[in-house]
Amino acid sequence: MKILVINGPNLNLLGLREPDLYGKQDYNALCDMIREKCTGHELELFQSNHEGDIVDKIQSAYGNTDGIVINPAAYTHTSVAILDALKAVGIPTVEVHLTDIAQREEFRKHSFVSLYAEKTIKGLGFEGYLQAIDYLFEKYGK
Ligand code: DQA
Repeated sequence: MKILVINGPNLNLLGLREPDLYGKQDYNALCDMIREKCTGHELELFQSNHEGDIVDKIQSAYGNTDGIVINPAAYTHTSVAILDALKAVGIPTVEVHLTDIAQREEFRKHSFVSLYAEKTIKGLGFEGYLQAIDYLFEKYGK
């Protein structure tokens, strides 16, 4: 199966960015962990700081991707465009957040992507991405 993992703005700065919240491991370490988990499957890893590029990437997945794992980062709380792109392509999607957005500032409590995602995993750090991939594997019986 083919999995697309999308990470939104500032997640390229993992390790440097508020390590007490997001951990000391960097984006490359996250990618390595995901690559290992997806051994034997097709995987695309994508990170962007730009909303439109994320929309384009979701659109380009139409018809060729079985599952999306997305951490939209700050766009979680603002982006109707990302929600609409996910709805448009209709690909099973799991939303991941490193931190527990329900336990942080008020403005982080609402997620547009949750209105489409089959599942939201939050507060588990990198492990959340692995659980999201497991969810997709189980869904497809892999
Ligand atoms: C985040 C939570 C968001 O509120 C924040 O803007 C991020 C990361 C997380 O993974 O916990 O950039 O999505």
